Parts: sequence; C-alpha cells; structure tokens
Amino acid sequence: MVALFFCAFVSVLFASLSLATSADPAVALNAASQVTFVNSDWIWTPTANPNALIGLRKGFTPPVGKSLIAAEILVSVENTLALYVNGEFVGSGTEDGDWVIANRFCVDLLPSFNVFAVNGSVTNGGRGGLLVAILLTYSDGTTDTLVTDSSWRLHNGLPAGWEQPSFDDTTWTVATSEGPYQNFAAVFSPQYPPASTLNRANWIWTTSGNIPAGTTRAFRHTFTPDPNQFPMSASILIAADDEYTLWVNGVVVGTGTTWNIAQDYTVNFSPGTTDIVFVVQATNVRGTTAGMIMSAEISMLPTGRANCTAGSYVKSNAVTWRSTAGAIPAGFEQPNFDDSAWPLVVGKELYGGKVYGTISVAGPSPPVTI
Ligand SMILES: *[C@@H]1O[C@H](CO)[C@@H](O)[C@H](O)[C@H]1NC(C)=O
Ligand SMILES: *[C@@H]1O[C@H](CO)[C@@H](O)[C@H](O)[C@H]1NC(C)=O
Repeated sequence: MVALFFCAFVSVLFASLSLATSADPAVALNAASQVTFVNSDWIWTPTANPNALIGLRKGFTPPVGKSLIAAEILVSVENTLALYVNGEFVGSGTEDGDWVIANRFCVDLLPSFNVFAVNGSVTNGGRGGLLVAILLTYSDGTTDTLVTDSSWRLHNGLPAGWEQPSFDDTTWTVATSEGPYQNFAAVFSPQYPPASTLNRANWIWTTSGNIPAGTTRAFRHTFTPDPNQFPMSASILIAADDEYTLWVNGVVVGTGTTWNIAQDYTVNFSPGTTDIVFVVQATNVRGTTAGMIMSAEISMLPTGRANCTAGSYVKSNAVTWRSTAGAIPAGFEQPNFDDSAWPLVVGKELYGGKVYGTISVAGPSPPVTI
C-alpha cells in the first residue's frame, strides 16, 4: 500500500482515482474530508414543544450489487442532538449548541441496510432544525451522498428502541423541510486538512463591565471527545485584549501581545490523548475593555475502513468556559486542576462584532507536539 497525501484542492478527483485502482477496499484512503451540506435541507417538526426531544430516522439500502463500508457524517443542529448509527451512539452536537457550527463523524457501516437516527431538542427558544450530509463509501470505491430532506421520518417524543435498526418507523410522520441549506447562514464545518476560523467564537471575560488596567484573569475549558475518538491535532487561533499565555494540557503553546492580530498554532497530540484542556491567562494592559477569543479545530486520528478524520470545533463561549474574578490559584494551568467551582464567563460579543470587528491572523507558528 502506497502512502497517499492529499491536498484540499485536488482531494475529490485524486481520491476517486486512487480508490478505483486500489486492490484492497479495506485499505484506508479517504483522510481528506469531502462531504458538504450543499444538497441538504434543514428539517424539523412544526409541532414540537421547546425542550421536548424528537426522534428523526433515515434508513438506507444500497443499490443492488453495492456493498457499503463506511460513512463520513457532517451534522449541525439547533440546538442539541445525539447521533446513532445502527443503534450505536456516535456523538453529540457542538459544545454550545450553536447551529452555525457543525461536527464531523466517521463510522463503519453494515454492507446493506443501515439506520441513521438523531434525537434532538431546541432549548434556546429557536425554531429548531437538523442539517445532515452523509458521504457513503462502497467497497468498490464509489460513493453516494445521503442528506436531510422530507424523506426522513420524525416523531415527537422517543418510543423505546426508537434508535435501533429494527424499530418500525413507518407510522412516523415525514420531517418538515425548512428549506435548502442555501436559504440560511453558511455553517462552519470542520475540515481535514483543517480550515481554522475565528467565526462563531466569542470575546469572553469575567464581566461585561469596565475592567481596570492591570487586571489578569485565567480562563479554562476542557474538551472531551465523543466515544472512540482520539485527538490527532488542534489548529488554534487566539487573541486577547491585551496579552495572553496559552497552555494546552499543561504545556505553554504561545503568547501574544497585540489584540488585533490572532496567532495561529498547531498542536499535535501524543498517542493516547483524550481530553484537551485549554487554559488562557490574559491581562488587560491598557484601557478599560478586556477580552479573550479562541477557536480551535480538533482533528481526530483517522479511523475505520475509509481512514476518515472526524473533527470538532472548540470556540470560546459563555456556555462551557470558566474563569474566576478572585485570585488566580496555584496550578490553575494544570490539566487536572478542578475549575468546577469557577463561574461561567461572560460573552461580550461574537467575532466580527461592534467592539472588536475582524482581526488579522499572523503566519502559522511551527507545530508543537505534546
Ligand atoms: C490515513 O490518513 C492519515 C491522515 O491523513 C495518513 O497519515 C495515513 O497515511 C492514512 N492511512 C492510510 C492507510 O492511508
Ligand atoms: C437522547 O437524548 C438525550 C439527551 O440528549 C440522551 O440523554 C438520551 O440518552 C438520548 N438517547 C436515547 C436513545 O433516547
């Protein structure tokens, strides 16, 4: 087996040529991500109560003579979900339930009939919506795409066994299409190779009020991968008003001193890494505004028969990041420091907002391995 390296620009063409000439269909060839939402509809129910869980299902049988091996799944939801393939839990939505950020998952499939099932709820007062694109790979190297549309089945509430392949969903209603993907905001999808962006990250601090010059705060967030996913690398953009130091799993990754230039770091993880602990210490050097913004794109180790690289974004937000307005305790940068008593941070504005606008990104720093 010849090792293949894909560049994002030629991956589609190159991958299909390579697969067509591969003698062993089990050999993994598909590390570059190729799935997009362009043919997907946002779907949901018109009648669900806020906070109520709904079930959505789609079964797929390949054409005669085709045998499935794997799927790459891109999914976005407003605003919580759990994804199951053939009854097995695969993963959940983005950490802060932001429908403008997607997750990418990789699963091996059964040769013939497969069931994709999602339970979802809308807890943010929005209208709710599910957007899915699934790239199916066959043993002969060809592919198909399965998308959310009004052929998905839907049920308000979750009958026992609703996510299992054997469950009979023929009495479920069909999903309501809210319109094609293009009718709504573009969703930021983790790519492989990564395509880092500060979009949908928040400028955060411990308060939205005035901050005296000289104030230093520490911010922490732990990313826990979904089951069977192991981080391979993180591509991190970060800036602070005015200065910061960034630790990842207890190791200093970099520092910055200019609020309107984000740094671009790549962290490669040693085998066996699971949780990723991001810690930022930031100081307001001048003026009475302060903030910190970070976006990391996590690429998982390739898995399965399509050598597929799952991906997730970690964005600074007011839902999962913590800080303390008290004295910064010793050991705060260590991965095992217990920050559970620290309050959640305050979100000041999304990237691109009135106060900070858009900022530039410095050239990439050399990768570090931790
Ligand atoms: C799987 O993908 C990774 C990441 O691109 C690559 O390094 C590796 O060589 C691939 N493995 C195979 C067997 O193609
Ligand atoms: C559905 O979603 C909830 C909440 O996200 C989760 O706790 C539950 O286990 C899910 N799965 C099933 C099979 O109902």
